[in-house]
Amino acid sequence: MRVGLFQFHPVLGDIDKNCSLIIQGIKQFHGDLLVLPELAFSGYALKNRDAVNAVAEAPHQSRALSCLQSLCQEKNCHIVAGFAEQNGEKTFNSSALVGPNGVVSIYRKIHLFGFEQELFSPGDGPPIVTNLGHTRVGMMICFDWMFPEVARTLALDGADIIAHPANLVMPWCPQAMVTRCLENHVYSITANRVGKESRSSQELHFIGQSRIISPAGEVLGQGHDSASQLLEVDIDVMEARNKTLASGNDLFSERQPQLYSSKLHHQGNMS
Ligand code: ACM
Repeated sequence: MRVGLFQFHPVLGDIDKNCSLIIQGIKQFHGDLLVLPELAFSGYALKNRDAVNAVAEAPHQSRALSCLQSLCQEKNCHIVAGFAEQNGEKTFNSSALVGPNGVVSIYRKIHLFGFEQELFSPGDGPPIVTNLGHTRVGMMICFDWMFPEVARTLALDGADIIAHPANLVMPWCPQAMVTRCLENHVYSITANRVGKESRSSQELHFIGQSRIISPAGEVLGQGHDSASQLLEVDIDVMEARNKTLASGNDLFSERQPQLYSSKLHHQGNMS
């Protein structure tokens, strides 16, 4: 199987322009699964709820998702991409898995980062794993990386690959995803963006460094920290099915969840 990612600099608030950038940027993609950044069609630093409402789309009438469907038809592939989702009165920071026949599944970001909490509702369902023939794809979005339960839940539900659209501003995720892959024996594809945006007096500098990582924690592909880039690698999905270490230990059957529940965690602090 051939997988890839496209990191680029979306234009804030301009869905049509971002569709064009994506169409142009992935011309040379010849793989089976491609991942794009978080909020790839709208940009990130949306000023307020009105700005979000101007770019949020219901999946069944989304310009962004129909652009992806056309690309999937043309290239006979699947694409995971972040988009602003409208659902009645609510807007979600979502990720869609799209194929030649349209939207296959949608994940709504559970862990909203900073000012996103002013703009979006948090995801209202668990992370999901989608079966694509011989491959099982789970989705999480950017700051979900900081909560290892998300990757663990996806892995326990059978994900071979974690597709991870991102708009990273903090430096730690590229390294943390090595651990997420190692501890779950899964592949991950983190598609970050590049460039800068500002919101109020805050300047956001996105770190690039998109990564494709193997179940053994090897970095199979790494993006530049400031340039747009298309990356593609071959992977063997079966490597993610084997949860046994060379020592003979099994990552999943040796878990002891009955011993893991904290008596303190509902209190929110240790005092
Ligand atoms: C992030 O979750 N976009 C940092």
